[in-house]
Amino acid sequence: MSDLRIGMIGYGFMARAHSNAYRKVANFFDLKRKPVLQAACGRDKKQLRAFAKKWGYAAMETDWRKLIERDDIDAVDICAPNNLHCEMALAAAKAGKMILCEKPLAMDVKEGKKMVDAVTKAKVRNMVWYNYRRVPAVTMAKQLIDEGKLGRIFHFRAKFLQDWTIASDLPQGGTALWRLDVKAAGSGVTGDLLAHCIDTARWLNGEVDQVSAMTETFIKKRKHTLTGKVQKVGIDDACAFLARFKNGSLSTFESTRYARGHKAQYVFEINGEHASIAWDPHDLHRLEFFDHRDEGKLRGWRSIHITDGDHPYMDKWWVPGLQIGYEHSFVHGVADFIQSLETRKSVQPDFKDALRTQAVCEAVLKSAKKGKWVKV
Ligand SMILES: NC(=O)c1ccc[n+]([C@@H]2O[C@H](COP(=O)([O-])OP(=O)(O)OC[C@H]3O[C@@H](n4cnc5c(N)ncnc54)[C@H](O)[C@@H]3O)[C@@H](O)[C@H]2O)c1
Repeated sequence: MSDLRIGMIGYGFMARAHSNAYRKVANFFDLKRKPVLQAACGRDKKQLRAFAKKWGYAAMETDWRKLIERDDIDAVDICAPNNLHCEMALAAAKAGKMILCEKPLAMDVKEGKKMVDAVTKAKVRNMVWYNYRRVPAVTMAKQLIDEGKLGRIFHFRAKFLQDWTIASDLPQGGTALWRLDVKAAGSGVTGDLLAHCIDTARWLNGEVDQVSAMTETFIKKRKHTLTGKVQKVGIDDACAFLARFKNGSLSTFESTRYARGHKAQYVFEINGEHASIAWDPHDLHRLEFFDHRDEGKLRGWRSIHITDGDHPYMDKWWVPGLQIGYEHSFVHGVADFIQSLETRKSVQPDFKDALRTQAVCEAVLKSAKKGKWVKV
């Protein structure tokens, strides 16, 4: 087993989720390459040292350009805010490194295209961390759809609800609150939360043809953490949109950070000619399935416990009946990435695929601004 030396940019939420995945993957999956936590990068030396020590990174860099230039790094993992993804990815591609980039791919389609061009030109393996695809129940939904169990699909319904930005005195910007600053995030719930729903929807139901959206910014001004000045809020606090898919199905998407009581409620439901599927991350190991072709008196929603050896990824974990969680979706991401190096097939979603999700996000924001349907 040869090493896959990881250079991690960031030491926040996703850097922890990914570091955990790199450490675990070789204990559960049979792979030809084993991730090694080679170097971590962050600007604050004290916090970086604590992170590197906790996760076992061999080296540290406070400048991300230096990390990318290192000869002892094979793959760069971008876990920094959205406004840095493009610049970091371009530099990593130029240095010939493989890239694992957090979602959304970029701030907008223009940046995303540059990133796709850069990895194509450099011929470097690339992946975007849309991790929900790799929750076994969601992967199973994909299998059922591809097997034709649902038949023709009529509806895709998704929502992603949170409630953490309701306080009007919450500032915007800076290390902790970059998601509220449009210059760091690019958009609000559209790029942060709906991007996940769009990625899953495209994966399960094909491409989106057109969208009609509305957005709202409920708190119009917030103090900026870095400048101390009260500034206009440029992000969308909430977004709801209708979509027509190329397969003829109709869809609704909703996301907000103002749904009191909801912390991370990402749910979707798909209704087909023969059957329906529903998934809820609060019970993420369960897939709800209704099949109209069942015998009439027994027909009803069944709740499948996705823990059996013939369920996606589950033969790698515990015995049937015992479940796994959120963090395992990232372990599966690393496993699939490494397997793609063996099979030499691209790992999905790659930059090119994630650019299509970016294009839907951009069409959604444009539609909300214009008050019109927009073709993707
Ligand atoms: N896949 C998912 O489910 C998921 C979940 C959360 C976040 N994300 C994405 O992951 C990315 C990071 O989000 P997060 O929640 O980990 O944020 P975070 O705020 O917890 O961490 C961001 C990290 O980037 C570092 N950073 C900022 N500027 C930097 C610079 N110039 N050089 C080096 N490091 C720098 C910060 O110090 C911090 O460690 C975002 O793109 C976000 O959209 C994805």
